[in-house]
Amino acid sequence: MAPSVSEIAAQVQSATDNVEKLNLKNTKQEDGPSYPFYSPYYDVNEKFPPTEIFEYQDPGLRADPAKPHLLNSETKLHHISPFIGTEVSGVQISQLSEEGLDELALYAAERRVLIFRDQDFKDIGPEKQIAIAKRYGHIQRHPTSPNVKGYPEFHVVYRGDGHDRLRDVIPDDRINRTQWHSDISYEKQTPGTTFFFVLDQPDVGGDTLFASQVEAYKRLSPAFQQRLEGLYAVHSAVEQAEASRRRGGPVRREPVESVHPLVRRHPVTGEKALYVNQGFTRRIVGYKVEESEYLLKFLYDHIAKGADFQIRATYKPGTVVVWDNRVTVHSATGDYDTSVRRHAVRLTPQAEVPIPA
Ligand SMILES: [Fe+2]
Repeated sequence: MAPSVSEIAAQVQSATDNVEKLNLKNTKQEDGPSYPFYSPYYDVNEKFPPTEIFEYQDPGLRADPAKPHLLNSETKLHHISPFIGTEVSGVQISQLSEEGLDELALYAAERRVLIFRDQDFKDIGPEKQIAIAKRYGHIQRHPTSPNVKGYPEFHVVYRGDGHDRLRDVIPDDRINRTQWHSDISYEKQTPGTTFFFVLDQPDVGGDTLFASQVEAYKRLSPAFQQRLEGLYAVHSAVEQAEASRRRGGPVRREPVESVHPLVRRHPVTGEKALYVNQGFTRRIVGYKVEESEYLLKFLYDHIAKGADFQIRATYKPGTVVVWDNRVTVHSATGDYDTSVRRHAVRLTPQAEVPIPA
């Protein structure tokens, strides 16, 4: 059931109190977030049980490959790169039928990233937003990031009013703030179809960079591809938890480490994709330290330098970006002044345990 107005007002007040505790000083009171309901909420005493394994069947497996319930004569598609990214206009995610939502999973897997314009998604309320995302797997409750009070499914991204989470994650002594990663890859069941919608944004900047891990894999020689297949790497949540503890933030679940194949196969498209990322991959199983560092550094450089298989997703009011975390890596761009607010929300459904290539 949707929360009542008074419940929402109480949550907003409570979230605002927490914002104050965190020193999120708005320069002007009337200049607060456009969607205060989604204000970043931290409760250091909030605790979650360990994530449980669940049965997963990708909705894309049920989808009609022609996608008649998703794309129609009104739909405008703009492909950004041959390898990754399509801007979609004339489709309202909130209005899609069950079949349309299945086709969305398939299309996101095929195009890696879909940028939906002019969506009413941010206004349909938390219950409906969660219900849509849940179709793509159990929504991860993030162990350290801000969430929404009463709705731990929301991962809140907030920068502005002197609050700079990006700086917390990427220190000032870095030359740039690019941090390629695939979300929460330390989980046993890693995320698939992922939703991100922006509530407040700078006029310029704050784009998201995406790279195709399918194309990154394809660029390698057959001999090198063969060498990578069969290797496994450790993905770790430990540093994320330690960093949160250092800042006095929450650690709602003890950090986990998972071992995933370096090359994974997508359950719907059958495509092979590299599955390493600088954010969470720490070492290659069975390799000595120097060997592991050498190989991971090569792969990270290869992905980061592949501007010919990367895109920038731009945001306009009403944009919802849907991407498949199994076949992509992405990075925020911290290229705008922190006096400008950027407020966004992610819903991160977990998919299958990665399938080795
Ligand atoms: Fe991310």
